[in-house]
Amino acid sequence: MFGKGVDVRAAIRFWFQDDWRTLVPDSPTDLVLPYLREQCRLVGSKEGCNEGDCGACTALLAHLTPDGLQYQPVNTCILPVTALHHCWLLTIEDIGDVDQLHPVQAAVVEANGTQCGFCTPGFVMSLVAGHLEPGLADPLPLLAGNLCRCTGYGGLIEVAKQLSQLPKDPRLTAKIERAEAALRAVAAETHALAVDTPSGRIDAPTDLADLLTQRQQVPDALLVGGATDVGLWITKRLEQPEHMLFTGGCPELRTVQLDETSLRIGAAASYHAFQAALLDEYPELTDWYERLGSVQVRSRGTLGGNFANGSPIGDSPPVWMALGATMTLLSTAGARTIPVEDFFIDYRQTCLAPNELIGWFDLPRRSPGMRVQVDKVSRRWDQDISTVLVACVQRDSTLRIGLGGLAATPRLAHHVMRSRDVADLTKDITPLSDLRASSQYRLQVTQGLIRAFLEAGS
Ligand SMILES: Cc1cc2nc3c(=O)[nH]c(=O)nc-3n(C[C@H](O)[C@H](O)[C@H](O)COP(=O)(O)OP(=O)(O)OC[C@H]3O[C@@H](n4cnc5c(N)ncnc54)[C@H](O)[C@@H]3O)c2cc1C
Ligand code: FES
Ligand code: FES
Repeated sequence: MFGKGVDVRAAIRFWFQDDWRTLVPDSPTDLVLPYLREQCRLVGSKEGCNEGDCGACTALLAHLTPDGLQYQPVNTCILPVTALHHCWLLTIEDIGDVDQLHPVQAAVVEANGTQCGFCTPGFVMSLVAGHLEPGLADPLPLLAGNLCRCTGYGGLIEVAKQLSQLPKDPRLTAKIERAEAALRAVAAETHALAVDTPSGRIDAPTDLADLLTQRQQVPDALLVGGATDVGLWITKRLEQPEHMLFTGGCPELRTVQLDETSLRIGAAASYHAFQAALLDEYPELTDWYERLGSVQVRSRGTLGGNFANGSPIGDSPPVWMALGATMTLLSTAGARTIPVEDFFIDYRQTCLAPNELIGWFDLPRRSPGMRVQVDKVSRRWDQDISTVLVACVQRDSTLRIGLGGLAATPRLAHHVMRSRDVADLTKDITPLSDLRASSQYRLQVTQGLIRAFLEAGS
């Protein structure tokens, strides 16, 4: 199935506990947390929610970049083992032990940041990620993906604030040097994977033509980006797809590229990977970015997944609609580019053909004088589902308003965009009522946010 001459590995290979590990999982759906706890008997990473919410299972995934190792906190409970390929997996067992605590662990103890201890390994891993990142401006968002049920957050926040003053741990520094050397030694090798497991197949091509051919030949194979949605289908809906086709190996799908007219973001680039480019261009999206999931979710989640899942409450589509973005859908037959608002047809239905996948998104560059306002209304500030998301953009004389959480699909408020009268919102949508809010609440809060934007520009 792969292009001629391409060397493909038939097993997942990753750096772990100071050595290379080779793994053929039992199934494409095997996840990292059960691998750690049940197969390796490393039980420091805890299982709390098993759905990416509590952070008790947090570990670090280190990738080799031209600047050295880059560390991503990840929720191992929803992370397929395939994601470990050619990475270094650091768990709490790598960090310190009772005889010699890592400075971050010692600081947590000192600040009374731990009580029953169940959440502590996860918090420590999130804090260690910040400790390893030079010049981290604001460490507090690191904690948004971790929940503590008994201690309270005061001590943990105190530790986060003093991260930059904590000394390095010589034992971890030595491990880092060994891991970096090991990853460098295999950097030139292909990262492509084609693994036959006892219960199914994993493909992770690195060549776009191969990916498209496989999509064409096996349209039933489940495409996987960061698996922050797919992981929950495995743990909560107990789905067992027999063939998983990972998109993240193809450089074109991970691109983040700024040119004179647009910012191109590959469908498989993680939120973390495009954060800097996006927020440089549109700093008004900072809150939107920081409130989408948590650091762990943004380390892995992608725009491709956020659109393709067809959810009415995805946080990206209304923003991309308001900014006038396009998306390019790819298949072996070629590429087609559509305005992002044309992607959604009905509740969880999109125009993606069975042989297609999302390639990339093009966001128009900022123009002089343009105004951008994005508001996410939810019951909690951090890591919560949108009750309503309203994105308003004024570019020259054109007004665009993207709406999320209000109807069966994210959509543009065409009537209000033409009339600039918020009373016309009822012509665009009949908001739903659910556990999060009533229809009346959604209507009023949306009208209020649009009115505020219109009045600020008048
Ligand atoms: C704890 C938690 C908090 C979250 N918070 C938020 C939030 O605040 N806001 C929000 O919007 N979302 C949130 N999410 C949902 C999720 O993180 C996002 O939808 C994310 O963008 C999904 O991207 P992914 O790459 O992980 O998708 P995946 O899980 O890999 O895939 C999701 C779907 O997209 C398809 N797909 C993936 N890539 C492509 C492609 N290139 N072409 C075609 N189909 C593709 C897959 O087949 C699958 O059907 C949260 C999730 C978790 C676990
Ligand atoms: S166990 Fe809760 S995030 Fe993984
Ligand atoms: S210390 Fe008990 S849950 Fe956090």
